[in-house]
Amino acid sequence: MKVLAINGSPKANGSTYSALRYMAERLAEAGIETEIINIGKGPVQGCTGCNGCDTSEDGMCVFKDDISAIAKKVNAADGLILGAPTYYGGIAGGAKSALDRLFYMGADLKGKPAAAITVARRSGGEDTFHQLNSYLTLSGAVIAPSTYWNVIHGNSGEEIMRDTEGLRILRCLCESMTWLLRMIEATKASVPLPEMKRDAWMNFIR
Ligand SMILES: Cc1cc2nc3c(=O)[nH]c(=O)nc-3n(C[C@H](O)[C@H](O)[C@H](O)COP(=O)(O)O)c2cc1C
Repeated sequence: MKVLAINGSPKANGSTYSALRYMAERLAEAGIETEIINIGKGPVQGCTGCNGCDTSEDGMCVFKDDISAIAKKVNAADGLILGAPTYYGGIAGGAKSALDRLFYMGADLKGKPAAAITVARRSGGEDTFHQLNSYLTLSGAVIAPSTYWNVIHGNSGEEIMRDTEGLRILRCLCESMTWLLRMIEATKASVPLPEMKRDAWMNFIR
């Protein structure tokens, strides 16, 4: 089983990466492989709402950068972790641009365990956490629970390793992701995925 972890920080080795690496180590202890990829290092083209992904043959974004390749990795993974630093009480800009495009393409997460984490120096992390969760709930993912909001505190990789409660939240999150991955693997032959057909679309225009 393989989990893909997305680091939405412009820093490839910053706090968010350290939190994801900590999670990768916990998952490895349970025999689960994790690949960490970086998407936050700009410039990242944002979504223009052109709907080109909807009409193209391969369903991929019209902008030819790494995001389509990452979409394929998301679709191939058994589970997903979204990580992004908190900037002004929300998702850091580069990560927001990348995630809008990634998820507008229709990431295949139906029935897959997923989780969002954010790192903040001090405040605003809960809003970022809820924003990140929106990508997951709207994509049919099964959100892995933990024991508090998945907000880790610190201004560097070294500082977050001193947020012992934050590390506990991440450890519990890995335990629940492991449990979900194993449950889904054990029951996939006998319990079908829900259909979740997108058969109604209403723009509230009169
Ligand atoms: C532009 C910018 C905005 C930030 N806004 C916030 C904020 O609203 N709340 C907060 O607690 N920390 C804020 N921070 C601090 C970062 O969240 C913190 O340094 C975090 O550890 C960065 O993670 P990274 O090393 O993975 O990029 C901000 C940092 C920057 C550069």
